[in-house]
Amino acid sequence: LTADKYNVKRGNYSTINDDDLKEFNSILSSNQIITDSNDLIGFNQDWMKKYIGQSKLVLKPKTTDQISKILSYCNKRKLAIVPQGGNTGLVGGSVPVFDEIIISLSNLNKIRSFDEMSGILKLDSGVILENADNFLSEKGNIFPLDLGAKGSCFVGGNVATNAGGLRLLKYGSLHGSVLGLEVVLPDGTILDSMHSLRKDNTGYDLKQLFIGSEGSLGIITGVSILCPARPKSVNIAFLGLNSYESVKKCFQTARSDLSEILSAFEFMDHDSQLLAAKNLNSIHPLCQEDKIGIDSVPNYPFYVLIETSGSTKEHDDEKLEKFLEKVMENETVIDGTVSQDEAQLKTLWTWRESIAEASQQFGGVYKYDVSLPLDSMYSLVEAVQKRLNDLNLSSTTDNSKPVYEAVGYGHIGDGNLHLNVAVREYSKDVEKALEPFVYEFVAKHHGSISAEHGLGFQKKNYISYSKSEVEIKMIKDLKDHYDPNHILNPYKYI
Ligand code: FAD
Ligand code: MLT
Ligand code: ZN
Repeated sequence: LTADKYNVKRGNYSTINDDDLKEFNSILSSNQIITDSNDLIGFNQDWMKKYIGQSKLVLKPKTTDQISKILSYCNKRKLAIVPQGGNTGLVGGSVPVFDEIIISLSNLNKIRSFDEMSGILKLDSGVILENADNFLSEKGNIFPLDLGAKGSCFVGGNVATNAGGLRLLKYGSLHGSVLGLEVVLPDGTILDSMHSLRKDNTGYDLKQLFIGSEGSLGIITGVSILCPARPKSVNIAFLGLNSYESVKKCFQTARSDLSEILSAFEFMDHDSQLLAAKNLNSIHPLCQEDKIGIDSVPNYPFYVLIETSGSTKEHDDEKLEKFLEKVMENETVIDGTVSQDEAQLKTLWTWRESIAEASQQFGGVYKYDVSLPLDSMYSLVEAVQKRLNDLNLSSTTDNSKPVYEAVGYGHIGDGNLHLNVAVREYSKDVEKALEPFVYEFVAKHHGSISAEHGLGFQKKNYISYSKSEVEIKMIKDLKDHYDPNHILNPYKYI
């Protein structure tokens, strides 16, 4: 897609000239400035290969001070900017639409400090999530966020998107665990609020403005975050169920019977497991026969992954065992397997975490991440599949047709469904079939059109399905106040 196809007009921004490059060269060294067209490709293209920008310049500052100087200059010159972390965002927010300058946080990647007593970690925003968690693991702590893109996404990107991930059920949202931020505002002002306080009722909690702001209000350069003790005992149960009703019942029982040790409750439908199996080409955890790939996926319409995390193995094992006996006896669950050793745990998680990657193996994927009441959650997937069938856009076998399948999976424990429509290529027909249909469904059921991925470029025209006019006006007023020239991440949701 080019900007023409996006149907948006370039804003009234300046275009980079030689004087600008001279200025950036005076702030950064030459290896922090990328202008080579081949090197620019990866920065211009998003993870889904759906959104492709036309930036001619990537800046890779190493310090907050350098970012401050760059922003101050760009603001005066009216040069538009896109902050970019690991570029794993799923709504087209991390790449330019036109020729915006990309500011990559990849060189801002130091752990600043860790307090073993309180568990408070302070780090640069460009630290890769997995690196932060590996560092904490050695200290006996855990990062209170985990997601499939952990090997690539940056902690700053996680905060900028208010990522939810796989264990929000236990550790809560970043709005609770982030204690402080360092942010460079669009005019170059450095807001230093890298606090270590769990309680601080002195005025507005300003950091919250930047958590989930998707690069629209400031560039996050530092994060102070509360990291709990790493669980000493972890179990996973991977279960097969006969209906969505059973998934809900299983969740209710898990919440009450596993209570404080329940750390994840994820669900996957049958087609999402077929996608994963096709991509992984390994043996499904519930396969009883000598089969591999899609042939190894049993016929259960739904699967559930339950993780428990605690401090006493015997206690956790006993609790999980009793829970499993109960749900198998009353036939909520039909089949299952349990894992305790590290390698098995990882394999079971793969069948959930790899769906994102698997869903775009045919060429592309339309992604929706919505909050819905549990009762109506899965009916969105059914409604979308029916719509694709009715419009004759659905096909699992016919290669001449664009759409593969609508699949559903996600964080049941958080009321968050991921609806993915895997396609062979992006097309206006499919997009028109899905949007605003999905958003209308969600609004009708009082959900949110984005539970965790944000609005970015994809949902820029749809914010009103989830926010009132007054809320949208307040958001716009804040943007106008702090970024009057709208240099930060233009054309996106504001
Ligand atoms: P980017 O993609 O680079 O940027 C995302 C947005 O934040 C952009 O708008 C960008 O401008 C802005 N931004 C980035 N860094 C900064 C900064 N330092 N200051 C200001 N703005 C900034 N999300 C979930 O919530 N839960 C999941 O379970 C989950 N799983 C995922 C699994 C996979 C395989 C993939 C590819 C993505 C997944 N995501 C998930 C999407 C998710 O938003 C990101 O992976 C992650 O939070 C983005 O971090 P990033 O560093 O890649 O940010
Ligand atoms: C997930 O939970 O796997 C992610 O949010 C990514 C996706 O939507 O596939
Ligand atoms: Zn998710």
